[in-house]
Amino acid sequence: MSDIHVVVLAAGKGTRMKSQLPKVLHHIGGITIIERVIRTAAALRPKTITVVIGHGADDVRKALANRSDLQFVTQEQQLGTGHALMQTRPVLDGQSGTVLLLSGDVPLLTVESLRALLGVHETTSASATVVTAVLPRPFGYGRIVRNNGRITKIVEEKDATPAQRAITEINSGVWAFELETLFGALDAIGTANKQGEYYLTDLVAIHRKHKREVSTWTVGRADEVRGINSRTELAEVSTMVRQQKNEELMAAGVTIIDPATTYVDADVVVGADTVIYPCVFLEGSTRIGSACEIHAGSRIVNSTIGDRVCVRNHTVVNDSIVESGVSLGPFAHIRPGSEVGEGAHVGNFVELKKTTMGKGAKANHLAYLGDAKIGEKTNVGAGTITCNYDGEKKHQTTIGAGVFVGSNSTLVAPVTLADGSYIAAGSAVTTDVPAGALGIARARQENKEGWVARRVQKKAEG
Ligand code: UD1
Ligand code: CA
Repeated sequence: MSDIHVVVLAAGKGTRMKSQLPKVLHHIGGITIIERVIRTAAALRPKTITVVIGHGADDVRKALANRSDLQFVTQEQQLGTGHALMQTRPVLDGQSGTVLLLSGDVPLLTVESLRALLGVHETTSASATVVTAVLPRPFGYGRIVRNNGRITKIVEEKDATPAQRAITEINSGVWAFELETLFGALDAIGTANKQGEYYLTDLVAIHRKHKREVSTWTVGRADEVRGINSRTELAEVSTMVRQQKNEELMAAGVTIIDPATTYVDADVVVGADTVIYPCVFLEGSTRIGSACEIHAGSRIVNSTIGDRVCVRNHTVVNDSIVESGVSLGPFAHIRPGSEVGEGAHVGNFVELKKTTMGKGAKANHLAYLGDAKIGEKTNVGAGTITCNYDGEKKHQTTIGAGVFVGSNSTLVAPVTLADGSYIAAGSAVTTDVPAGALGIARARQENKEGWVARRVQKKAEG
């Protein structure tokens, strides 16, 4: 096969999105629309990938900064799809091979379809091959006009006659071009049409005029060429992407109780025999082990979860690590930078922030543990608060192994509770507690014998 040069058109405004954000930077299943297009293209191992940017150019460039395989060209004014492709002349002209033209807003096309397109393009020795689809409602798309079965031209909706509007075969906007004849043909495009734009689609007639071959390849599943132009289409395509991701997970042995309400981002990995309950969100770079239970209403973002972890209802985990055999929630909040050790328990209404819990440690009810290091098998009682913030700075709390922190203790950081120490319930701990010691930090209780009777007597005397 000849060299492939991918070009992604992404300079348009996306007016119908009614958004400050360039259209191609909206997200589908956790990654941007354009990132999906580029990932698919990259799977073909092309020689170059050129992205044509214009509207919101800086934002698009920044959003793709993590990729080193891209080159960008800018289309200052958006004068049409033909004009957009002309902008790649400085980087592509003079090279040989095939230009694979993709739309930055058409994210569902598969690598297999692109391979099929390239196959037809090569075997027919075409100068241009366009991907078409048959749509029951072709409104808005360019229509494929054929004569004796062969494509003769493409007519845009706005330029079409009523008879042409009845054609259901449409231009997907995805093409393969022979590089050697491309730029010469682009030079022949004019703007004599309803929109006064340089239409890429004019290439069909131009190549035919020069007796060069123009081919078509019709995609089997028309959904693959769906473009995103509005928020409604964004939601519809997101639903399809979600379903596909869920099907992949189920095929790999994950139980999903209600796929319609399970939201798993593209890069998330889930182990076999994990059960995902309804209304669960697994986002970003999250990895979940095997045989876990993720209960309803939970949201796990950029986190690593071990095996046999039970995430009970309405638990939120962010940028944290949770080892195997842990139990979280219900209603636990694991904030960034936390690590929950093997077999540990973090129960209801417990919040961790930048906190490490050792193996088998427990904080079962109502606690705030921030900037803390908690040792193995330590038990943190209900209502414990680490006072990590003095109004200016954050301070560290260190709790050793096998410590028992009585309920409703406030631990004023910086403070250390050494291994095996006990803290009496209700303590306000401000100084370090040595290993094996009992720390009591509260007013001593006084019982006033007979006080109630004396009070009644006083009242009666007036
Ligand atoms: C285009 C096709 C139409 C096809 C449809 C499929 C033309 C003339 N029409 O129409 O036949 O059915 O796509 O979706 O080619 N873009 C630029 N610069 C521009 C204009 C567009 O980069 O000056 C980019 C857009 O950002 C988008 C893509 O090209 O990614 C398609 O542009 P759009 O305006 O959506 O084209 P359509 O009018 O939908
Ligand atoms: Ca479009």
